[in-house]
Amino acid sequence: MEIRKAQENDIAEIVALERECFSDPWSEESLRDTAGTLTLVATEGSGVAGYIITRCVAGEAELFRICVKSEARRKGTGRLLLESGLEAARADGAEKMFLEVRSQNAPARALYTSAGFTEAGLRKGYYSDPVDDAVIMTKDI
Ligand SMILES: CC(C)(COP(=O)(O)OP(=O)(O)OC[C@H]1O[C@@H](n2cnc3c(N)ncnc32)[C@H](O)[C@@H]1OP(=O)(O)O)[C@@H](O)C(=O)NCCC(=O)NCCS
Repeated sequence: MEIRKAQENDIAEIVALERECFSDPWSEESLRDTAGTLTLVATEGSGVAGYIITRCVAGEAELFRICVKSEARRKGTGRLLLESGLEAARADGAEKMFLEVRSQNAPARALYTSAGFTEAGLRKGYYSDPVDDAVIMTKDI
């Protein structure tokens, strides 16, 4: 498994994974409009197994997306992507990372907790399709 910065020719696979994994997928247009964001991909062979999208502004990093294709899950790829995203944010001068996660998303919450994120707040009814609360999590990096 290799982690590297996303390139132009990774976008089609990222768009496909967005559609497969999220009820509110980012469009190809918004994935291309990555000003200020960093996308890292995990590759296995020639294909994209997963990706992470972060943004770092004024010492604070935000995690927008992390996704591993369903057949590649539970093999450590999500953790590797998260650690790589944290490392890149640290190198970019961030001291903290924030994220929002659906309260019902047990796999993602377990991943974040095991990586040292702690709960910092709750946004009631923040998500739609299906309706869910957002748990705000943060980690000092
Ligand atoms: C969340 C996600 C990225 C995890 O990717 P992954 O490659 O399966 O994760 P890893 O194999 O690295 O697992 C790391 C840890 O996360 C937790 N975890 C991951 N999947 C889990 C599951 N299904 N149930 C419980 N814990 C889980 C565990 O603590 C795991 O450590 P362990 O394997 O030692 O028990 C993946 O499930 C995914 O893409 N989900 C859909 C997209 C999504 O919801 N993204 C988050 C919101 S942006």
